[in-house]
Amino acid sequence: MASEQFSFKGFAEQPFYQGVNQRLVDSLTVKPGQRIVDLACGTGLLTRLILERLQGAKDTLVIGIDQSAVSLGLAMRDLKSAPGVMVQFVQTQVEHLSSTVQGSVDAVFLGNGIHLIPDKKQLVAEVFGILRPGGTFAFNSTFFEGGVPPESEQYYRRWMSKALRSLKSTYGLMPQRNKVEARRQLSPQEYRDILEQQGFSVTKQELVPVEFTLEGHLGIARYEDFVAGAMPGVPLEMASQVLQEAARQSYEELKLTFVPRNWLQVVAVRP
Ligand SMILES: C[S@@+](CC[C@H](N)C(=O)[O-])C[C@H]1O[C@@H](n2cnc3c(N)ncnc32)[C@H](O)[C@@H]1O
Repeated sequence: MASEQFSFKGFAEQPFYQGVNQRLVDSLTVKPGQRIVDLACGTGLLTRLILERLQGAKDTLVIGIDQSAVSLGLAMRDLKSAPGVMVQFVQTQVEHLSSTVQGSVDAVFLGNGIHLIPDKKQLVAEVFGILRPGGTFAFNSTFFEGGVPPESEQYYRRWMSKALRSLKSTYGLMPQRNKVEARRQLSPQEYRDILEQQGFSVTKQELVPVEFTLEGHLGIARYEDFVAGAMPGVPLEMASQVLQEAARQSYEELKLTFVPRNWLQVVAVRP
């Protein structure tokens, strides 16, 4: 059961995470009268950054879409609107984009969620369909082929094997591996190919190096979707607790102050 205790909020507040998402939102050209969609908006980090960027732009509309009622509730509670900007939140799946948004829009953002969408071709077609000619689609993700640089692999191996050992020794449990949905991570070229096949012109594709902190790993280990994906079938409290403790120990043993990670950032334009 989704709850605020295991929401994305704690992770979304991490400065390194705000920085990498600010970079994505900075690709937005601000003009009055724009209509902007924040897809998979979660607890509303990008929505807030978009609103801040729209300061001074009149008659704009921002639509946040997410499947999680808990996340949308937190986004609505914390967001302060800017004058002249209207914000709407819709609880639905991003796959239903064209039937959710009426009329064309100027920009679609999808922060840290594209890797979660099984049919990326269909999603990109939906985004293309609602954008006006000249409109932009900007997304980012660290779950792509290349997200974990070789120097960080040791940390991730240690973190997961420690967490699994502790789950077994403390609670006598093992995750149900057969429940994990096989999600292959795409390469930057594969994302580019999908966009271009749909008719988009890719104007920016970059790898952004990020210093992931212990607070970040503790935050992600308190996020329901991550915990359930890392340890399927294990009660959330137990899985989260062993993941947090294993992260602390791994940082200490490897004497780390941060773990390098790459974010993929892509901006594409509908010609
Ligand atoms: C990692 S969070 C990112 C939230 C926000 N965009 C950010 O960058 O802080 C991923 C979000 O995708 C949402 N999500 C995943 N699959 C979805 C789908 N098919 N339709 C709508 N939302 C989805 C989840 O509910 C979650 O809020």
